[in-house]
Amino acid sequence: MKLPRSLSLLVISIAASVLSFCRQWTVISHQSDVVETSSSSFRGRPSHSSKNLTTADERPRVTGFLPQMNLTSNTSPWAYAYLMAGVDTEHPSYLGIFYNILVSSHILRDSNSTADIVVMVQMSANSTDHRLTPREEDILTRAKIRMYYLDIPPKQSFYTMQMEKFRILDMTEYERVYYLDGDVMPFCSMDYMFELSKTAAATTHYNETNTTPTPVLRENIILAWRIEPAHGGAFILAPKKGDYELLQEIIHRQEQQILFRHKFDTTKGWGHVITPPDAWHSTGGREGPNATKWSWHGNFADQGLLYYWTKYFKKEVSIIIGGNVENWSGNKSQVNVGLLKSFGCISSEFTKPFKYASSGFSKMAPYRDFKHFTGRSKPWLVSSGVNMTNTYKFQDIQTAQEYWFYLFRKIQQRYQLQEHSAKLHRIVPTTGFGGYPTIRMVRATARARKFRSQLE
Ligand SMILES: *[C@@H]1O[C@H](CO)[C@@H](O)[C@H](O)[C@H]1NC(C)=O
Ligand SMILES: *[C@@H]1O[C@H](CO)[C@@H](O)[C@H](O)[C@H]1NC(C)=O
Ligand SMILES: *[C@@H]1O[C@H](CO)[C@@H](O)[C@H](O)[C@H]1NC(C)=O
Ligand SMILES: *[C@@H]1O[C@H](CO)[C@@H](O)[C@H](O)[C@H]1NC(C)=O
Ligand SMILES: *[C@@H]1O[C@H](CO)[C@@H](O)[C@H](O)[C@H]1NC(C)=O
Ligand SMILES: *[C@@H]1O[C@H](CO)[C@@H](O)[C@H](O)[C@H]1NC(C)=O
Ligand SMILES: *[C@@H]1O[C@H](CO)[C@@H](O)[C@H](O)[C@H]1NC(C)=O
Ligand SMILES: *[C@@H]1O[C@H](CO)[C@@H](O)[C@H](O)[C@H]1NC(C)=O
Ligand SMILES: *[C@@H]1O[C@H](CO)[C@@H](O)[C@H](O)[C@H]1NC(C)=O
Repeated sequence: MKLPRSLSLLVISIAASVLSFCRQWTVISHQSDVVETSSSSFRGRPSHSSKNLTTADERPRVTGFLPQMNLTSNTSPWAYAYLMAGVDTEHPSYLGIFYNILVSSHILRDSNSTADIVVMVQMSANSTDHRLTPREEDILTRAKIRMYYLDIPPKQSFYTMQMEKFRILDMTEYERVYYLDGDVMPFCSMDYMFELSKTAAATTHYNETNTTPTPVLRENIILAWRIEPAHGGAFILAPKKGDYELLQEIIHRQEQQILFRHKFDTTKGWGHVITPPDAWHSTGGREGPNATKWSWHGNFADQGLLYYWTKYFKKEVSIIIGGNVENWSGNKSQVNVGLLKSFGCISSEFTKPFKYASSGFSKMAPYRDFKHFTGRSKPWLVSSGVNMTNTYKFQDIQTAQEYWFYLFRKIQQRYQLQEHSAKLHRIVPTTGFGGYPTIRMVRATARARKFRSQLE
């Protein structure tokens, strides 16, 4: 089956890094002496040892935030959240994302972001370790990144992985959480987006000369993309008590329908018939007669649910469509052309690497302030065109990938990540996830849930 380009955009974000790991060139040294616990001795375990349950990780499983020394609980009302799912420490195909999180955090901190940074970690059901390696946990703590461990669902798949993004709704200690796919790199502090949607009466704009008492953006913010109205790779939600549970009910209802009907209903979508003049819009604007159908990519997974949740369930959302912003409240909307024109965070010093950033709408905030390394363009893959033997100087950087690599070299020094290219080439990438969510995966999840609830 040939996938349309933007489906890859959505789905490959996590998967391609998993599938293409054999091209990677470095790995965290597991022989580190930074933190020694029982599990470090498992590094050299023979291949059959995964069957020997007595060698399993002795560290306790954790769900929710991992208590981290020297990292007090949140200090900010805002957080950026990344997701790293299907982690198997014996098949470290997640390291590209791990490195990207370190690079991105470096950029955010360096540009004075005050928001917390969270990584949601979901281990693979096949992993004998219950957590990231002690060394990896230590690096994240030193980088002041909070770890939030997720339960392993009964039937883990690319679909369940996509739906875990919504776990940010459960982080009610934050007012806003900016979810970013594991292959998204901010170019600068994107805190202005939080600032623009601040609910407090006395909001000051990011632009200090222009202050106004009303927020510019609503509490939830979604971005239209080339052929879909809600991009699953970057969005902001306002966590509220009880909302995560409500969302789970919506998900289960949909899974049951798909189990029963074998397909996604593009008229009712997630529970709302779109009636004209209401319609969805993409930045490409080619939706035509389908603009009232739930017919875009990822419709039955994250990109459909995100649109339903923010626009028709919470009824509180700013939908950014290229240069336009739709502010929705209740069932009223206002369309604003160029609302975000004077915002953004790229300074002139930074223009160079971003000149080569992807498409037309990337010229506007918030699109221009991050890069989504989709498909094989991920800078940790040889296919990205980065010269991995080069030590790039800032003035020589031509692309966002090279900028990533330039910063990665700093990160590598800071945390003493060592080169193990020869070793890595022998690692066979394994993933049972597939590269995109399918209806079959949804049905498998529905059946697994049913089975588990019958046991209880
Ligand atoms: C399983 O692990 C234990 C403890 O490490 C070891 O003593 C035992 O020989 C192992 N058994 C097998 C079948 O590998
Ligand atoms: C915690 O911070 C203190 C003071 O900054 C430092 O001395 C100590 O080594 C830190 N502990 C860890 C585990 O990083
Ligand atoms: C971050 O803060 C430092 C110290 O106040 C300042 O020198 C620097 O210019 C700031 N960077 C940005 C991108 O605002
Ligand atoms: C929505 O857009 C209008 C501009 O037309 C603006 O005045 C208002 O503050 C925006 N924000 C919200 C939260 O409605
Ligand atoms: C509308 O959706 C249908 C079914 O998803 C698809 O076959 C058709 O090509 C779409 N039409 C347009 C104009 O996108
Ligand atoms: C939305 O519109 C419908 C019909 O126009 C109306 O009955 C309903 O009360 C409205 N809901 C809100 C929250 O404004
Ligand atoms: C700040 O906002 C004012 C009023 O909207 C505008 O004239 C000015 O150019 C903006 N400044 C920057 C640095 O964007
Ligand atoms: C990569 O960088 C190295 C070191 O600067 C250089 O010698 C080599 O020619 C470069 N390779 C390519 C393909 O540009
Ligand atoms: C675990 O391994 C089995 C067998 O190799 C594979 O079929 C399955 O998809 C894997 N599961 C995950 C979550 O990676």
